[in-house]
Amino acid sequence: MRKKRVQVTIMLVGIMLIACQPREQKETTSMKPRPDDHSYSLPQEARVTHLDWDAEVDFDSKMITGTASWKIKKEEEAGQIVFDTKWLEIKGVTDQEGNVLEFELGDDQEYMGSSLKIMINESTQIVKIDYQTSPKATALQWLSPEQTLEKNSPFLFTQSQAILARSWIPCQDSPGIRFTYNAKVKVPQGLLAVMSAENPQEINESGIYDFAMPQSVPSYLMALAVGDIKFQSVGPRTGVYAEKGMLEKAAWEFEDMEKMLVAAEELYGPYAWGRFDLIVLPPSFPFGGMENPRLTFATPTVIAGDRSLTTLVAHELAHSWSGNVVTNANWNDFWLNEGFTVYFERRIMEALYGESYSEMLAILGFYDLRDEVESLGENNPDTHLKLELSGRDPDEGMTDIAYEKGYSFLREIEYAVGREKFDAFLRSYFEKYAFEPMTTEVFLEFLSEDLEIPDKISEPDPKRWVFGPGIPEIKFPPKSQRFENVGSISDEFIRNGGLETEIMKKWTTVEWLQFLHSIPDSLSLEQIASLDGDFELSGSGNSEILFAWMKKLIRSEYDDCLPVVDNFLSTVGRRKFVLPLFEELVRKEQYKDWAKKVYQESRKNYHSVTYNSVDALFDKEA
Ligand code: BES
Ligand code: ZN
Repeated sequence: MRKKRVQVTIMLVGIMLIACQPREQKETTSMKPRPDDHSYSLPQEARVTHLDWDAEVDFDSKMITGTASWKIKKEEEAGQIVFDTKWLEIKGVTDQEGNVLEFELGDDQEYMGSSLKIMINESTQIVKIDYQTSPKATALQWLSPEQTLEKNSPFLFTQSQAILARSWIPCQDSPGIRFTYNAKVKVPQGLLAVMSAENPQEINESGIYDFAMPQSVPSYLMALAVGDIKFQSVGPRTGVYAEKGMLEKAAWEFEDMEKMLVAAEELYGPYAWGRFDLIVLPPSFPFGGMENPRLTFATPTVIAGDRSLTTLVAHELAHSWSGNVVTNANWNDFWLNEGFTVYFERRIMEALYGESYSEMLAILGFYDLRDEVESLGENNPDTHLKLELSGRDPDEGMTDIAYEKGYSFLREIEYAVGREKFDAFLRSYFEKYAFEPMTTEVFLEFLSEDLEIPDKISEPDPKRWVFGPGIPEIKFPPKSQRFENVGSISDEFIRNGGLETEIMKKWTTVEWLQFLHSIPDSLSLEQIASLDGDFELSGSGNSEILFAWMKKLIRSEYDDCLPVVDNFLSTVGRRKFVLPLFEELVRKEQYKDWAKKVYQESRKNYHSVTYNSVDALFDKEA
């Protein structure tokens, strides 16, 4: 044990020395290193501490016009403060007394956008930036009334993670830089505005809403949604926002939110954010969920009508600790946000619905890990937990590795040291590093100091898991009797087409996903006919089942599936579904042109996160 700890320490010191070497600076004359390659800001010189945001949302021009007044903290001699912007029009900058401050907007660099350097002096305490967003702002999706459920009012939502916040607020867009904020937002009358902050629960006459976020947050957690939105309470600290026609359904689907919150607190300590509400957005929302503090943003595709996809709520809730309280210092450490959150999410699910359920979730997650490693290649550095994303859009490296390899690593540690010790470790981790940026190296150091991995266990070897490729040996794989039962049924189906209809009619979503995973990717016409005939999978209202099924139908070259696929792709903008479906389609020569046509039609319904990924796919194909 001693030896191991000494080795780990030497390795960590080495890594820290390497990490501290100054890197070549673009766009700046400063010699101080930037702690985050994905932000132009130089926080060691001057950084923000608080934002007062005053903004007006205009649906006609698809622009937000606003003033971002940033309170700053700086080194005495600092002559400038640097912000990130993307396609913002900067109208002018002043200090706390209204004195004009000179500024310089750098060239627009792909995903990075333009640096905004503001000249400051000893007396500068606040920089007040007047600006306007571009109608093409990458974080913003402006929906016409027709693109909403009720079809009466327009809708706007933001998606800031990873580095899109700079397209709607000039900010120091690095997860390692935190600030508190207040906001005053004017929207068209009759609409409600909500943010990642203390929120109103009713539409007001004036269309002006005030917000406060008294806990510090990084810029990627800035969020705004505007629409004809209603609120319904679920529990004392929890509730849902949605368009009217979705509200009842959403409140029913997410009835266990309050229980999840209580379970999470019992596991890892008090919830730091006051309320935990969730907004169900229109179907073009590009993610399943986004952990905006106090108000999770969610896709309507998790409303299955049977509460079977609510793991997403546990996931976004878990981020209230892992991610929002202890935050990855930069995007190379993304697994600290997502791996911890998947681990925590499964512990919440276990607490509410039992171990047999959370083990099934873990097995399905492991398939995603295997698939991801297979598609990246097992020696690809992007299969390391600690990533190296310099010079690339961070979005490129944000794969299932962070989620599922991160989960597997933490699970291995839990089993090696025992749950009691591991839970105590996690509680102290969340407490000790609250509201601080976290790096992989600091985490490993804390791990080696605080958790003595017993002698007899040589695994998990943190170095191998974190800095090595592929999937290290798993000593404690998840197990499920229910999945074994599914296995005998799928075996039988593969062998002679037989189905246990009565048993299968009682299956839950996870059992169906296991079944669909176990049968071949390409099915015969008879196999398709018998599954669709007995269980109407092509008409499933469960997005995960339908997605898995559609992939098989495309692989099986089953032409009759095209209307179903078309219907799905023209309404849903969740990238996790949209991108793989287009990938499956373009892989088949006979569907390529059809896929292009469908994309031409549906691209306008997608958020930039989704259409940028699908554009890249079609560019590669062209
Ligand atoms: N924070 C992520 C979403 C995200 C990741 C946005 C990277 C931008 C860049 C969120 O918590 C998440 O993981 N969502 C998952 C939900 C799932 C794991 C339950 C999703 O959207 O699929
Ligand atoms: Zn997440």
